[in-house]
Amino acid sequence: MTRILIVDDEETIRLALRKFLRSRGFEVEIAGSGDQALEILDAQSFSLMLCDVRMPGMTGVQVVPQARARDEDIAIIMLTAVNDAATATEVLSAGASDYLMKPVELADLQQAVDRALQKRTELIEKRHLDRLIREEVALRTAELEREKEALRRMSIGIAETLINAMEAKDVYLRGHSQRVAELAGQLAEQLGLDEALCEDLRVAGRLHDVGKIGIREAILNKPDRLTAEEFEHVKQHVRIGLEILQPLFHITQPLKFIEHHHEHWDGAGYPLGLNGEDIPLGARILCAADTFDALTSKRAYREPLEPMAALEHLRVDVGKQFDPRVYDALVRVITRRLASRSAVPAKR
Ligand SMILES: [Fe+2]
Ligand SMILES: [Fe+2]
Repeated sequence: MTRILIVDDEETIRLALRKFLRSRGFEVEIAGSGDQALEILDAQSFSLMLCDVRMPGMTGVQVVPQARARDEDIAIIMLTAVNDAATATEVLSAGASDYLMKPVELADLQQAVDRALQKRTELIEKRHLDRLIREEVALRTAELEREKEALRRMSIGIAETLINAMEAKDVYLRGHSQRVAELAGQLAEQLGLDEALCEDLRVAGRLHDVGKIGIREAILNKPDRLTAEEFEHVKQHVRIGLEILQPLFHITQPLKFIEHHHEHWDGAGYPLGLNGEDIPLGARILCAADTFDALTSKRAYREPLEPMAALEHLRVDVGKQFDPRVYDALVRVITRRLASRSAVPAKR
């Protein structure tokens, strides 16, 4: 049953209104003051409050916001004295739904009550619908995000499979991409990059050399110096790699890093000859990790360098091939690795 609270300091009015509203099928409570009304509102809930404006103690205007604070859905109709347009505006802006002039015509009251209740129902329904829509949108968005992530993982996985197949054929390349990925991720962490960028670097590391699949095997592991023509051919692995990875256009950052992983700090690299900060930081990191791993891996034409010897070797190219800041990070990461390795107790 719809419940209505009547607040008026004049008992005759309270009782008359109650009698009428009860006869219309409402369940009615009454309060003789603002304080009493708030007490009742604390304990019970109502669809509508009919509230006198002028009362001793708390005025009706003061009751409105406090009633609203207790129940944001309650409909509120104020009872004002005739010729009090100012108060009427005031109660509406305080949050009342409507107002009636005293003495109240019962027919007007009936209409105002119906209107206020109707408006209340609509507001509740609208809010409910809003919430449903918001929840649905949030749900769908999360679902889409999950699907996008799954797709991303899958496409990266496919590209990785290709790389593993390629590296498996070549003992000297085996594991290179995985190690570069790990080191590049650690360098990114060392440089304080956020987790998303660190992950982008791991992805870029795993995929950076996929283009080597298009390079003649004899050249990849040629013991002697490459001829100019051969070097031009090797350079193509960047372009070929980007072509292979083109369907992964949504992993924008890793592709950028891969595109520029052979640029040099001094501008002497390829494919564009970018220099300094113009080279994406991720590409500068990838370049250092890539070169370090190449030096510390066995090649057909030479034995692997020890990590410290490789760092020494690379130092010559700081400011030329390498960003000094990235080189510092590399020294820190490798030193830490060696320290943690030597800290492992020897097997008994
Ligand atoms: Fe490369
Ligand atoms: Fe590489």
